[in-house]
Amino acid sequence: MKKISSAIIGFGIGRKHFEAIHRYKNSEVNIVCEKDLSKLKYLKKKFPKIKITNNEDEIFFNKEINLVSIASYDSDHYKQILKCIRYKKNIIVEKPMCLSLKELKYIKSLILKSNLKITSNLVLRVNDLFLDIKKKIKKENIFYLEADYIWGRKNKLYGWRSKIKDYSVLLGAGIHVIDLVMWLLNKKPRSVFTVANNIATSKTRFKKNSMYLLVLEFPGNIIAKITANAGGIYEHFHELKIFTKNKTFSNTLTGSVTIDKNSIKKNSSFYPDKKNRKKLIHNFLDSLVQPKKKHTIQNKDLFNLMSVCFAAEEALKKNKKVKIKYI
Ligand SMILES: NC(=O)c1ccc[n+]([C@@H]2O[C@H](COP(=O)([O-])OP(=O)(O)OC[C@H]3O[C@@H](n4cnc5c(N)ncnc54)[C@H](O)[C@@H]3O)[C@@H](O)[C@H]2O)c1
Repeated sequence: MKKISSAIIGFGIGRKHFEAIHRYKNSEVNIVCEKDLSKLKYLKKKFPKIKITNNEDEIFFNKEINLVSIASYDSDHYKQILKCIRYKKNIIVEKPMCLSLKELKYIKSLILKSNLKITSNLVLRVNDLFLDIKKKIKKENIFYLEADYIWGRKNKLYGWRSKIKDYSVLLGAGIHVIDLVMWLLNKKPRSVFTVANNIATSKTRFKKNSMYLLVLEFPGNIIAKITANAGGIYEHFHELKIFTKNKTFSNTLTGSVTIDKNSIKKNSSFYPDKKNRKKLIHNFLDSLVQPKKKHTIQNKDLFNLMSVCFAAEEALKKNKKVKIKYI
């Protein structure tokens, strides 16, 4: 593919997709689909040269479009992915790519039969601090990790996240830190146990669990504790602690440090490092134009990650430890 002609569905976080794709090397955004009428009006005024529509089929029926960036609500992703595959469009899909194991299996079977590429916006992988930590832990003997996704934006739960049927804080938020831990370790967990509650949001219109805790067991007996905490009064933050035999790496509200027997040293890498987030999409665009270039997130990473998330939901339902089956 020489030139990337793309379309974006949904202009919330989709704005960030737009900024990453439009005019990056050989890429253009040619169509934006948005169903909110006031946003439609704004977009038409702001981008007179770009097709602005509320009908997604204008994207799928357009033969020029070879990449679709799906930034719609979680419950729309699955159907839009299927349409992308049917109409031969490469795919960037916001997390979570779908809401059930059955959907995941079907997507995988279709993607394997196609020569399309798919990725998801797992932005922590391009974060300066986490990249630095990943390098530093390479030779360390890790025995325990903690990764907490603390949303600190409770009000966000009360819009579409309260309305759609299968919304899950685990799939919508916790997924970022599950991916972070799997990526940092370069390992797949063997089993998961999950507990959850909705104490922080019980008297609100958000009726699902707003707090999850997962225990993941990895090969080599490494243990990870993961939380997806959407109800806490906090800054939006990704807390991380990695304990090795000789060192501890820690990112908390008070800063990021490496601790060893003799010292506590501040890490100079950037966090939250939002400006680097575009790199993930740029890297995917590069891999479309130069097929030999591998994307940071391989297809198998996406399917493995979603398999872990669905196993975690299953563990919660069954109230027991579940052995993770990778699809
Ligand atoms: N990767 C990340 O860090 C990250 C951050 C925020 C949100 N997200 C994901 O992005 C998606 C959107 O969340 P958001 O925070 O941008 O929500 P949002 O409500 O801020 O914006 C979503 C926009 O998409 C539009 N929209 C929704 N469904 C549509 C459809 N089928 N067709 C056309 N327009 C549609 C809405 O009108 C709205 O303007 C969700 O899947 C969410 O999980 C990811």
